[in-house]
Amino acid sequence: MLLFSNVDFAYDAHPIFFNLSFELGQGEFNFLIGKSGAGKSTLLQMVYMNILPQAGIVQFAEYNSKNIKPRDLPHLRRKLGIIFQDFKLFRDRNIYENLSFVLEVTNTPRREIKKKVNNALTDVDLFHRRYSMPDELSGGEKQRVAIARAIINDPLLILADEPTGNLDPETTNEILEILMKIYNRGTGILFATHNYEIVKRYNNYKIIKLEDGKAVKSVFK
Ligand SMILES: Nc1ncnc2c1ncn2[C@@H]1O[C@H](COP(=O)(O)OP(=O)(O)O)[C@@H](O)[C@H]1O
Ligand SMILES: [Mg+2]
Repeated sequence: MLLFSNVDFAYDAHPIFFNLSFELGQGEFNFLIGKSGAGKSTLLQMVYMNILPQAGIVQFAEYNSKNIKPRDLPHLRRKLGIIFQDFKLFRDRNIYENLSFVLEVTNTPRREIKKKVNNALTDVDLFHRRYSMPDELSGGEKQRVAIARAIINDPLLILADEPTGNLDPETTNEILEILMKIYNRGTGILFATHNYEIVKRYNNYKIIKLEDGKAVKSVFK
């Protein structure tokens, strides 16, 4: 479902990846680890093809970095759900509108939008907060809204870029549990973190470790 094959990438003269290769099967949960600056966020941006490799290939679903066209990007990105450390919610829209927006851009019928938004909010246990504004929610609740937004198009893969980086340990667990529930329904997850405590706790999942510009696939034991 996702393949990086001999990928090279540098920001100007600053090399990030050298011959980076790994593969991720459909419906897998993988951690992406590596110290700050190792290239985790860069790698995730290469999955949604915001950044293209300078050598090698990134393949996601039917999309390939060698021949991707700008007009394909919205289609590719609809197969992905993306969550960030800082949530990236629209502060001037309520929770319902933050989610419905994603479907309005694809001209989804109103009734279907309502059903999908309500289902996604129920999945993260926030249906009762649908008319709240983002600033009225806690950090954990905001991240749950971001998860609801990420799953609304029923993506193949969720990219999570340090989604618990701003959260306390208890809330971190809550977010992990929600993501595990989504994973158990069949959605793939690539979870970037530099928090090795989380990785040790969920120690039966695959790990892609970025080190010296390469990926080392391993299992923490
Ligand atoms: N847009 C950019 N331009 C130049 N350098 C960048 C850019 N984005 C990230 N970098 C650098 O690339 C390296 C990897 O960054 P990043 O992918 O954000 O790492 P991580 O997410 O693992 O902390 C860092 O040294 C960072 O400073
Ligand atoms: Mg990062």
